[in-house]
Amino acid sequence: MTMTADIAAPLGMAEQAASEAAAPAAVAGETVDAFFSCRNIESYYGESYIVQGVSFDIKEGEILALLGRNGAGKSSTLRTIARMDSPSLKSGEIHLGGKAIHPLKSYEAAQAGIQLVPEDRRIIGGLSVEENLVLSQVAPPLGWSIERIYEHFPRLAERRKQEATTLSGGEQQMLAVARALARDIKLLLLDEPYEGLAPVIVQEIERIVAGIKEEGITTVIVEQNAIAALQLADRAVILDMGEVVFSGDADHVLDNAELRANYLAV
Ligand SMILES: Nc1ncnc2c1ncn2[C@@H]1O[C@H](COP(=O)(O)OP(=O)(O)OP(=O)(O)O)[C@@H](O)[C@H]1O
Ligand SMILES: [Mg+2]
Repeated sequence: MTMTADIAAPLGMAEQAASEAAAPAAVAGETVDAFFSCRNIESYYGESYIVQGVSFDIKEGEILALLGRNGAGKSSTLRTIARMDSPSLKSGEIHLGGKAIHPLKSYEAAQAGIQLVPEDRRIIGGLSVEENLVLSQVAPPLGWSIERIYEHFPRLAERRKQEATTLSGGEQQMLAVARALARDIKLLLLDEPYEGLAPVIVQEIERIVAGIKEEGITTVIVEQNAIAALQLADRAVILDMGEVVFSGDADHVLDNAELRANYLAV
């Protein structure tokens, strides 16, 4: 079997390619049982070449920490996987559970189970906690029920009637994650979920993410707090200037001071 890059569907032929969505192609040296894979993805903001041929795999139910310094391309990689318009994917392949994601638009990727929780959390003002959750369920495919979400997020249950933008930063982060779970979810993409949060709240979010893993959901976590992310993660990918410079076990990065000093400054 040949490398996958040369059989990537050209963009602009999304509908045709979507109907032909193929199972992930096996690539020499890569695991064929990967639940999620991105292969040589390249994306641009206008003329700026940002995601420069990124490849990695994730097994179902694993947590992958996507790390790197400021500007390394972490958020751009998540946005590319979620098939946002910007940065725009120019080549490469993305597969989730045997379905080709690279030909899709962002709403189709969401329907396919990819849920991005962006750094700014996108809580909807003027609505209560519960209304924010219900709004995530206006269209199928649905994910967790509101009751099930409240079991995992007791703080949100206590505050269900509260106007959502009056929640604390940590509670807003919980609501942002809960909204992703309210949709049918196969891959959770978390962009800096601990940002601006006190350590005790970070621990609470960590417990929530660990609980989500126990439910079998696959997660990518991007974090400046690399140590915390690595302690939670099974695997790690380190980006530098839009390229993968390390891919392997999270424990390997925790044990390797040189790797951390070179690429993570921790
Ligand atoms: N909308 C945009 N238009 C043009 N360039 C952008 C845009 N967003 C990000 N970039 C550039 O893309 C590169 C990667 O940015 P990205 O936000 O993906 O990095 P990051 O690893 O998430 O960084 P941080 O840790 O600061 O969040 C940077 O050089 C950044 O300046
Ligand atoms: Mg970022």
